[in-house]
Amino acid sequence: MEIMEAIKERYSLRSFSQKEIEPEKLQKILEAGRLAPTAANQQRTRAIVVTDPKLRKGMAEACSNQKFVGEAPAILVLCADDERIMRCGQSARGIDCAIALSFMCLEAAALGIEGCWIGSFDPEQVRKLLSIPEGYVIPAVYPLGYPKEDDGVRREKKPMEEFFVSNRF
Ligand SMILES: Cc1cc2nc3c(=O)[nH]c(=O)nc-3n(C[C@H](O)[C@H](O)[C@H](O)COP(=O)(O)O)c2cc1C
Repeated sequence: MEIMEAIKERYSLRSFSQKEIEPEKLQKILEAGRLAPTAANQQRTRAIVVTDPKLRKGMAEACSNQKFVGEAPAILVLCADDERIMRCGQSARGIDCAIALSFMCLEAAALGIEGCWIGSFDPEQVRKLLSIPEGYVIPAVYPLGYPKEDDGVRREKKPMEEFFVSNRF
């Protein structure tokens, strides 16, 4: 699938089929994250794949009780150590994790697997549940799996003229 096709295909899925993700497809998704760029090529990002039913239930609770999180057959948790704020004022690890997860979302979408980026979670609850060491930041959670059904509808995006300006703001 062309990259632009995967970009157009991807959407936030909150209703998962119980079909497991095939190990070879999960490997492809993880490979997309592994190959993502990182600030100064420091590669501090780690992706935890949560499949254990008890842990998935705990993850749903840690994600502001968003029940669908625990209903996905797998949950990706992106974390990274050695946090540093770049000269631009942004978190290098937050951005590293966001790029890795974006690459993974797109590879997943190309394979017919969708998910939902989760920002509403308690990182300390997630840390405790998954034994993530102190010093690691936890920027993103992504439950993923096959759709129960896909009606093909995609959320509307703002038009290009509201996104893009030439030269000056
Ligand atoms: C950083 C970030 C955090 C998000 N957090 C949540 C969340 O906690 N719960 C949720 O249901 N959706 C969450 N979303 C999904 C957005 O609501 C969704 O991406 C948006 O409505 C656009 O829809 P689309 O992904 O189908 O294009 C999050 C998305 C992003 C990028």
